[in-house]
Amino acid sequence: MRLQGKVAIITGSGSGMGRASAKRFAEEGAKVVVADITDAGGETASEIEAAGGEAVFVKTDVSKPEDCQRMVDAALKAFGKLNVLYNNAALPQKEKSFTDVSNEEWDRIMSVNLRGPFFACKAAYPAFLRAGGGVYLATASLGAIMPRAMSAVYSPSKAGLICLYKVLASELAKDNIRANVILPGPTASPMLKQFMGGDRENMSDEEIKNIVAKSMAFGRCVEPLDVANAAVFLASDEAGMISGETLLVDGGRSVARGRD
Ligand SMILES: NC(=O)c1ccc[n+]([C@@H]2O[C@H](COP(=O)([O-])OP(=O)(O)OC[C@H]3O[C@@H](n4cnc5c(N)ncnc54)[C@H](O)[C@@H]3O)[C@@H](O)[C@H]2O)c1
Repeated sequence: MRLQGKVAIITGSGSGMGRASAKRFAEEGAKVVVADITDAGGETASEIEAAGGEAVFVKTDVSKPEDCQRMVDAALKAFGKLNVLYNNAALPQKEKSFTDVSNEEWDRIMSVNLRGPFFACKAAYPAFLRAGGGVYLATASLGAIMPRAMSAVYSPSKAGLICLYKVLASELAKDNIRANVILPGPTASPMLKQFMGGDRENMSDEEIKNIVAKSMAFGRCVEPLDVANAAVFLASDEAGMISGETLLVDGGRSVARGRD
């Protein structure tokens, strides 16, 4: 029960890493606000409750400041306080040349991946102050520090998120607030396929997962649970002296070549 008594908002928790994190947080004793733009968040909350945990679902579009405020208000209404905000929701970018990224696509991805977390952090701050401190977490990407070709908006959006969190870590230590970012490598979630362009676009989730797994040093993709376990640690008091940090959960991809 490493998160006993804590209240956490997790965005994008209707699927993938967000859902896995919401369930792991609840298993560790946290009360969870499941925030997602789709109704799949309701299923996550129901699964947590069926397992004996506490969760509420708030339909949220993180690119809208009023929705971010609503999600914080819902946490306070349901559970009376807020201790952790995990900005995990994001949009992927299909592999394409930067010249093919439309201005509208740039704005849409930035608004969810970078502007949204900024709004959400601002909305959560007064509640953190009232609680005597808090934890900001975010999911960025290995691509934020090792950007690849064909990701001219996704990678910068994630690099910006790291920078934002370093600013918050520096600015808010005085308020007993920590800010850390998880950088997953290729992860077996529904999003994985959505990055693929060209001849990979029409492959099944399973085919994509198998191809990517062969390029990983451990011969498998990162699983959502791998990320959720890292998030539990960073949200917990065990990480009390860790702030402004980035944690790679990439199966060594940044240093170890996989099997070709
Ligand atoms: N899957 C990967 O290979 C990979 C690798 C590195 C980083 N990431 C990052 O991990 C995080 C989680 O992604 P995932 O792989 O679990 O993907 P996913 O597609 O399974 O989950 C993303 C969730 O975000 C929600 N969402 C999208 N737009 C939203 C919005 N405007 N407001 C609220 N919710 C919204 C979706 O409905 C979905 O439930 C993302 O930040 C992603 O960029 C993914």
